[in-house]
Formats: sequence, structure tokens, C-alpha cells
Amino acid sequence: MDIKKIRKDTIGCEDKLFFNSAGSSLPPKPVVEKMTEYLQYEEQIGGYDAAKHRAGEIERFYSETAKLLNCKPYNVAFAYNATDAYARALSAIPFESGDYILTSNDDYISNQIAFLSLQKRFGIKILRADNLSNGDIDLMQFEELIKRHSPKLVAVTHVPTNSGMVQDVEEIGRFCKEYNTWYLVDACQSVGQLPVDVEKIGCDFLSATGRKFLRGPRGTGFLYVSDAVLHEKLEALFIDMRGADWINADEYKIRMDARRYEMWEFSYATVIGLAEAIRYANEIGIENIQSYNEPIVKLLREELTSIKNIRVLDKGSSLSNIVTFNKTDIQLGEMKQILSDENIYFSVSLKENAIIDFMKKDVDWAIRFSPHYFNTEDEVRKVVEIIRSI
Ligand SMILES: Cc1ncc(COP(=O)(O)O)c(C=O)c1O
Repeated sequence: MDIKKIRKDTIGCEDKLFFNSAGSSLPPKPVVEKMTEYLQYEEQIGGYDAAKHRAGEIERFYSETAKLLNCKPYNVAFAYNATDAYARALSAIPFESGDYILTSNDDYISNQIAFLSLQKRFGIKILRADNLSNGDIDLMQFEELIKRHSPKLVAVTHVPTNSGMVQDVEEIGRFCKEYNTWYLVDACQSVGQLPVDVEKIGCDFLSATGRKFLRGPRGTGFLYVSDAVLHEKLEALFIDMRGADWINADEYKIRMDARRYEMWEFSYATVIGLAEAIRYANEIGIENIQSYNEPIVKLLREELTSIKNIRVLDKGSSLSNIVTFNKTDIQLGEMKQILSDENIYFSVSLKENAIIDFMKKDVDWAIRFSPHYFNTEDEVRKVVEIIRSI
């Protein structure tokens, strides 16, 4: 990895300590250039003709995403964000009242709210597998729950927003195959930092966003849709003229690829921006990104753990680039102010973002640092020294 070139491409990283790639990362220069150029082209000839003339470039979004996920371009749908992709997948599951969704305690807040909304309106029942004492999901119990309740859907978040753990989505995928259950994975925080291989995971749907570890623009995301879903003709509840043809006054015909899950109207500048971000990541190589990140994040976690009154909150046998911690002798407001004054960019997770996890950990808030491959060991040491001095 050419860290000098990567940092040169990342103009926002020079004058600050940017540790918020799990929030919204710094897009590399080529992403911004592609989008700007495309918008200027729209300025010249209008959006419809611009998209027509740049169809090849737009198609690159599908081929680069397929390369990233180890699937075919026809398995990929563009979405406006991860929640949008997720909601479309969820709406395609043929639920009937009394059906179960099996999920984890660490699934994303908006996914949990969507399950509760399904519960409220359609009488869907929610099951959550327990965690082991080390934080990992209890896979034995997970399998038991599948056997006992035959859930219509298993839904698991690969990397939770509020802790550094990585859930074992591959083992869960094996259960779903064995017990023939639809399987939806939220890979919003894992794509771009960890290998995400849909063949290995064995999922039916996988949702993600563009702006986080993939370093794409805001307002972008995607949905992976498996061959099984396509063949079974599962479709989103609100399908539009992109996903289907209106063939008779009372009849429509769905399309056979994953674009069945798209809406007709896109901001193509963002599609092109996301395509470029994914191309950039593919060119560097996700394995290289992961190997670069590992020691940086390990150093950050170890150093934070060694500081008095800092409580690192991440649990689990496999950890990612999300580092959450709190400081027991300071109010959140003061902590945020100090970090901001030191030009550190970070996020805060509140109890209401992660109610189950934070109640178990007995915390109201956590600072979330999420370094990425444009960060350096030197930056980690600077951040740690600032926190040590508080
Ligand atoms: C694990 C996880 N899933 C889903 C989302 C939602 O992503 P978006 O805001 O792009 O819809 C987030 C956002 O933080 C997340 O962390």
C-alpha cells in the first residue's frame, strides 16, 4: 500500500485527526473529481442525456460492487443508503402473522425499529439470540432457536454501529442454508474495511452504505440480492417502473435481475462517485486494507485500555476498526468539547442508539473512534496522548 499516495488523495486528512470513517469517511480525491465532472456535464446537457451518454461509467458501479462482494453484476442494486436497501429487502420477505424474525442483540437501531414496526402492524414475532460472556453471539443457542421456531427470516448485522465486534455471519449463513431460512445481512460497517464475500456468507440479501469505510459519497448504498431471491421472484413491496414493466391495466411483470429492487430516479453523480470509491478500494485490495488497519486499531485499543478512567467497551473474539470507550470521570459534553478543540473527528454513540448493548455495559454514552487505512500509527499516538492528558 502506498500510504503517501493514499494520504495525498485524501486532502481532508492532513490538517486534522480524522477518526470517523464509521460515521462518514473522507472520500478520496478521484471520487470528488468524478462527481464534479459529471455534475458539470449535466449542467451542459441535462440529466437524462448525461446518463444516456455515460451509461458505461454508470455500469461500472455494478461491476465494481460485484467484484467487491464476489457476485455477479446482476446481483447488485443501487440504493440511497443502507437503511433504504435494508427496508426494501425486508419488505420482500413473504411474512404472515405469527412468523418469526431471528436476530441478535447487536443489530442496528433502525433494523430493530423496523422489526418492531413489523411486529406492531403484522404480528411478526422477534427473537434475539443471547451473547456469550465474551460478547460473541451464542451460536449454539442461535441454531436451537432456528430449529425450534423455523423463523421466516434471520437478520444479522455484521459489524454493529456501537461496538467493535464482528459477528460470525458465515456460521449463521450455514444454519440458514441447512434450515432453509431467508437470510439478510447488514454489512454497513464492514464493507470497505473487511472482506465481505457473499458466497462465503451465504446470505440472500446484504445491505451497505457508501459513505463509511468505502469512502463514497453520502446518499449512496447498495443491496446484494441472491440468485435464490431472484428465482423465487421475491420483490419489494413498493416496486416501481424500474423494477417492473406495466404490461396490462391490472398486471405488471418484474425484471429478473437485482435492479428489481431499485427505484427509477437516481442522482447519477452519486452512483458514479460510489463506483469510483469502490474501484479505489478494489484497486488497493480489501485484504491489504484489512492488514494495514489491524495493527493500527490494535495499538489504539491497547493504548486506550492502559489509560486510567478510560473504559474500552468493545467485546467479542473478533474485533474491527470501530473502537468504543468512555471516560468514567467526565461528562460527555466536556469530553466532546476537549476532543473537538484538539481537532479530533469522531462520533458519539448514545444509549438510545444501542439500548440492549449499553444497558448490559451500564453506560449512557461512548466515544467512537474509527480509523481507516489513510490514518497512521503516528496519528494514533497523538490521539492517545491527548486522551491521556485529559
Ligand atoms: C450497522 C449499521 N447499519 C445500518 C446503518 C444505516 O446506514 P444508513 O445511514 O446509510 O442508512 C448504520 C449507520 O450508522 C450502521 O452502522
